[in-house]
Amino acid sequence: MKIMKILIFCAAILPFISTCSLTACANEKDRDDGDSDNEGIDGKILVSYFSRTGNTEKVAKHIEEFTGGDLFEIVPLVPYPDDYQECLTQASRELNENYRPELSSHVSNMNEYDVIFLGFPVWHGNTPMPIRSFLEAYDFSGKTVIPFSTSGSSGISQSMTAIRNLLPNSIVLDGMGITRATLDRSHEIVNEWLNGLGINTDVQNSAKGNIMHIQVGNVTLIATLAENSSAEALKELLSSAPVTINMRDYGNFEKVGALGATLPENNERITTQSGDLILYQGTNFVIYYAPNTWSLTRLGKINNVTQAQLKETLGEGNVTVTLSLP
Ligand SMILES: Cc1cc2nc3c(=O)[nH]c(=O)nc-3n(C[C@H](O)[C@H](O)[C@H](O)COP(=O)(O)O)c2cc1C
Repeated sequence: MKIMKILIFCAAILPFISTCSLTACANEKDRDDGDSDNEGIDGKILVSYFSRTGNTEKVAKHIEEFTGGDLFEIVPLVPYPDDYQECLTQASRELNENYRPELSSHVSNMNEYDVIFLGFPVWHGNTPMPIRSFLEAYDFSGKTVIPFSTSGSSGISQSMTAIRNLLPNSIVLDGMGITRATLDRSHEIVNEWLNGLGINTDVQNSAKGNIMHIQVGNVTLIATLAENSSAEALKELLSSAPVTINMRDYGNFEKVGALGATLPENNERITTQSGDLILYQGTNFVIYYAPNTWSLTRLGKINNVTQAQLKETLGEGNVTVTLSLP
């Protein structure tokens, strides 16, 4: 029941977000859960990354989606060779010479960010040198830096040493590494990782207009909308009036009901997680409370709710929910 009170409280104060941050809710939840060590991470978020072949970019976009942070690509002035062997040789030389490649992209408002995600592919067990150019180009003092990597199989630990050496005055959290074997599950892994970090994403997502309310009885669930044309169309629909949907159980993993409108589809093969909001065949709104793998369109995700809390809120059998914008 505690979570219900918190969700109602969050819903009540959302319109006053500029004067009353939702961090209060996040912290209250943490205390309620008895997790006193995790005070959460607060502030404006930048998701910076370097990626030569797109793997790290994919993970960075998951982080952008969940946190509402601003995405920034670290781009070397001279691109690395497409040829893998040539790239290996060049990267090895640069690492040995502690070289700093010039960058062509720049964050003009770095002073505004409090939390910097920093993504890169592991190269020769370490960070690519453009990452070091990036870290030396700004003052990261007092900021929280959260590294993440992708690789064939290597871990992130050697890179962490290099990053911490370059950022003696920053709070550098332990990094998260995704390998080739886990890349397909990166969406799910990133979600779980971010939940564990206790990052407060509501303020930033609200500022971006990415928040939707789901009223179930006297409980208001708060959801973050996806960044695609389907979620945009849903926002458009809700901007004129709230939408009420009669939902029923299907397959022991979801509640589903007709939206009463057709939205554009952005189907991809998804293994759903509890709290995922999905568009099915363009006309059905689905709330998942258990995994299912299918070609589906993401609409968003319910924030800060466990599977047990979600199941309790939705109850057994048919349920009526109302979607609205705050
Ligand atoms: C120059 C170079 C060095 C690499 N070194 C390693 C390594 O030491 N260990 C590893 O597991 N993978 C290594 N890889 C593989 C990449 O880390 C992996 O493919 C990564 O996901 C690529 O990310 P990206 O698509 O964002 O560029 C290397 C790749 C390149 C091009």
